[in-house]
Amino acid sequence: MKTILILLGMFIFILGNANEGQDLFKVTCVTCHTIGKGKLVGPDLMSVTEKRSQEWLVAFIKSSTTLIKSGDTDAKAISEEYKGILMPDNNYSDAQILSILAYIEQGGSGDGEQAVAIDILSEVTSINIESGAFLFSGEKRLANGGAACNSCHSVKDERIFSGGTLAKDLTESWDNMGSSGVAAIIRSSPFPVMNMAYSKHVLNEEEVIDLTAYLKSVSEERYYQRSSDFSLAFAIFGIAFFIMILISTVVLYFKRKSLPVNYDILSRTSKVVN
Ligand code: HEC
Ligand code: HEC
Repeated sequence: MKTILILLGMFIFILGNANEGQDLFKVTCVTCHTIGKGKLVGPDLMSVTEKRSQEWLVAFIKSSTTLIKSGDTDAKAISEEYKGILMPDNNYSDAQILSILAYIEQGGSGDGEQAVAIDILSEVTSINIESGAFLFSGEKRLANGGAACNSCHSVKDERIFSGGTLAKDLTESWDNMGSSGVAAIIRSSPFPVMNMAYSKHVLNEEEVIDLTAYLKSVSEERYYQRSSDFSLAFAIFGIAFFIMILISTVVLYFKRKSLPVNYDILSRTSKVVN
């Protein structure tokens, strides 16, 4: 009887823990991870608790950047695989992280996770892309009045003026994280600064799709675009200017008087003296 009670107690404890884990996972991790539904912004976390030690997982979830910087081989490898997309640090206690891991270990519940398999851009046309470009640059206002993406981000695209430098250049984001990843971040950003800009100005689903379609087109066409920062123009201008200076120096050199202006006068005076 006693053992049954103890087992029951442990069961409730694990269940309760996993429940807390589910809540935390839904608030913090679901934007970027699924458990068994495929890669989103970050890897599918199914069976990650078998692949990595608990100690490693707790350290990575607290601050992946610290672990990567410390030179940990696994952390460095996975960060390279995900091309340096940053997983934000978390201020959770060890106990809270263990509860998230318990939730992951039981395979999650699928509840609240994003459907990765659906291609949200399947019905997109050039009208969506254009609308996304206008929303990005701020030429078209967001329905709920949030800041234009352009105020923090830039993209390599001649169609719009280059934007802010506060946050990452988004030219390659779609390539790195796919439509579901990009859309997930736009819907509810895990990055505090970006999240603050939109928590009271939520984007509607149409805007999310237009912006995702736009970032896809930017990513696909990046090799044909000149950067709008004009560095190439400056380089060409610089070289042209240098050649002009060179030519004028040469011309001036050959047109220079071969003797000082005063020489005539000097020689005349000299004659007189002589
Ligand atoms: C902004 C997106 C984002 C959020 C939010 C996020 N992660 Fe991640 N996560 C990533 C990326 C990207 C990687 C791949 C490694 C890297 O680039 O740092 C990763 C890697 C991981 C790994 C290592 C996987 C492996 O195979 O070794 C674990 C574990 C993990 N995340 C757990 C979590 C948990 C738990 C949360 C919520 C508390 C969370 N992540 C929130 C993006 C995110
Ligand atoms: C107030 C500033 C701000 C605004 C406005 C903003 N973002 Fe962000 N965004 C950030 C920050 C900060 C990050 C985290 C990466 C970094 O540090 O640059 C980020 C990250 C992202 C990422 C992940 C990039 C990657 O490759 O890792 C995407 C995609 C993104 N933002 C899209 C958008 C879109 C689309 C809009 C417009 C609806 C937008 N952002 C508006 C600040 C902002």
